[in-house]
Amino acid sequence: MNRKWWKESVVYQIYPRSFQDTDGNGIGDLRGIINRLDYLATLGVDVVWLCPVYRSPDDDNGYDISDYRAIDPKFGTMADWEEMLREMHARGMRLLMDLVVNHTSDEHAWFRESRKSKDNPYRDYYIWRPGKEGREPNNWASCFGGSAWEYDETTEEYFLHLFSRKQPDLNWENPAVRNDVYDLMHWWLKKGIDGFRLDVINMISKVPGLPDAPEAGEGPYHWGGQYFLHGPRLLEYLKEMKDRVLSHYDTFTVGETPGVNTEHAIHITSEDSGTLNMLFQFEHMDLAVGGGTTFTGKWQMGRWELLELKQIISRWQSELAGRGWNSFYLSNHDQPRSVSRFGDDGEFRAESAKMLGTFLHMLHGTPYIYQGEELGMTNVAFDSIDDYRDIETLNFYYEWVDNQHVPRHKIMAAIHAKSRDNSRTPMQWNDETNAGFTEGRPWINVNRNYVHVNVAQQLSDPDSVLHYYRQLIALRREHPIVTYGKYELLLEAHEQIYSFLRSLGDERWLVILNFSRETPVFALPSNVPCLQAELVIANYPVAEHEEITLLTLRPYEARVYRLQGKCDDVEPTS
Ligand code: NOJ
Repeated sequence: MNRKWWKESVVYQIYPRSFQDTDGNGIGDLRGIINRLDYLATLGVDVVWLCPVYRSPDDDNGYDISDYRAIDPKFGTMADWEEMLREMHARGMRLLMDLVVNHTSDEHAWFRESRKSKDNPYRDYYIWRPGKEGREPNNWASCFGGSAWEYDETTEEYFLHLFSRKQPDLNWENPAVRNDVYDLMHWWLKKGIDGFRLDVINMISKVPGLPDAPEAGEGPYHWGGQYFLHGPRLLEYLKEMKDRVLSHYDTFTVGETPGVNTEHAIHITSEDSGTLNMLFQFEHMDLAVGGGTTFTGKWQMGRWELLELKQIISRWQSELAGRGWNSFYLSNHDQPRSVSRFGDDGEFRAESAKMLGTFLHMLHGTPYIYQGEELGMTNVAFDSIDDYRDIETLNFYYEWVDNQHVPRHKIMAAIHAKSRDNSRTPMQWNDETNAGFTEGRPWINVNRNYVHVNVAQQLSDPDSVLHYYRQLIALRREHPIVTYGKYELLLEAHEQIYSFLRSLGDERWLVILNFSRETPVFALPSNVPCLQAELVIANYPVAEHEEITLLTLRPYEARVYRLQGKCDDVEPTS
C-alpha cells in the first residue's frame, strides 16, 4: 500500500461558467467559486478540477484558449484567481487546472502568426498540409462533425483541427511547441497550483504521413482515431513532460484519454515508470454507443446492459491493481447526467443518485464528482434547439435536420439523451430565480426542476443525496480500505445487482447495488463465509442487525457492510 495524497483524494469538478455568477452577466465566475468554497468544504472534497478559465473566444466554451497566461475577463481577474487559490489552500483543498494543449484557439498569437506565411517562425507550430487532388489532405472527420481540415486562403494550405475549425491542433513534433507548453506548465505550477487535468492528451502524437482513415459508413469524412489516439510518440512526449516539468513538483495529474485501453493505462500510470498519476478512460461512457470511441456514434441511443458495465469496470479494476492507478467518474461536462443515464431521474431519482454515488465512491481508484451530481441533478430537455449552446450539439442538429432531413423529433430525442448541455445547465443552489445561480440572464437556461432539486433544500434535509455524498466522502477519510482495498466481483452474471468485495488486510467490505427499479433478491455467495455483517452505509432505512444471506432489495437500493470474522479469498461467482 503505497500511500499518496492523490490516491486518497475525492475530486470535485467545477464547470465555472455554470457554477455561480456574482456580477450578473449570466456567466459563473471566480468570485462565485470563492463564495461557494465553504460549501465544498462542507461536502468534504479534497481537490477541485477547474475547467478552463483562460482567455478564450469560447467557440468550445473555453477549450479553445487564446492566452494560456490570462484569465478571461468574463470569469474575473488574475487577482480573483489568486484569491481563489489562497482560499482553497486555506481550507485544505488543492487545485487542478485544465491543460488544453492538443490545440489552441485560432485566435492564439501562435496561430495568428502561423497562418501569415509559410516561412513564419510559428508556421510549424501547427499541422499545415497542401490539399490533395483539390480536396482536404486526408479524409479525417473532426470530433465535432465535418472535415478535420480547414482551408486557409492566405497561404493556400489546410490546417488540421481534430475539434472545431477554431481549435487548430498543435504540432508536437516541433520541439519549440513542447518547450512553450512546458514553460506555461511551470508558470502555473509556480503560481502554486497542485496539478493538471490534461485535455485529450493521448491525441498529441499523430502517425506520420497522416494516412486516410478506413471508410466506415456514408459521407466523405471518417473516424481516424487509429492515427492520432495513442500515437507513436505519445509516451516519449509524456516522459519528456515528466522529466522537464512534473517531476519538479508534488503534483496530481489526470489525463483525458479517449479510446485508451488497460495496457496503455498501465504504461502511463505505472508508479515506477509511468508519467501521469491516472487517466480518464471512456469504455463505460461508450456503453451502447456505436463506433467504440467517445466522439463517433455517441448519439446512438442503444440500451446499456449491467453485465457489460460489470465486465468493463471489473477489467479496469483488476488489470490496473498494483500496476497503475484508476480514476472513476460517472459524469462530467461532456456527458449526460449520470442519474438520467444509469439511474432513474423520475420516481427513484434520489435513491438511484445515492446508489450511483455508492458505486462511484466504493470502487478502487480516485473518484470524481461533477458539480450537481451530489444533488442528483438530472438531464434537461429543452424544446427548441435555440436553447442549446454546445457546438457539438448544434453541429449535430444542423447536419442531420437541415442537411440530411432526418425528422426533427428524432434528433431532438438524441439531444435530450446525450447532449453535453445536459450537464452544463446552471448549478441549482436554491429555489429562487435562476436557482440562485445568477441575477442576470443565464448563458444557458436553468433546469426547471431546480425548485425541488437544489442545495438549500438538500442541506436542510438529513436524508438528501447531498448528505449521503458527505457520508461517502467521509468514509474515504476514515477507512484506508476505501482507497486501497482489493476489488473482487461477486454475482458476475446477475442482471440487476452489481456486488463486489473490497479487502485490505483482515478487513473486508461488501458492496451491494441494485441497478434496477425491480426488487431482485441478493443471495450472499456461499464462498463468502462471514460470521456477522455490520452496516457501513445504505440509501434506505435498514434494520441494524439484519441477516444478509438473503436480501430482497428495494429499487436502486445500495448497502455497504463490513464483514466480521475471517473470510477466505473468494472467486467470482455467478
Ligand atoms: C475534451 C473536453 O472535455 C471537451 O469539453 C472539449 O470539447 C474537447 N476536449 C476539446 O478540447
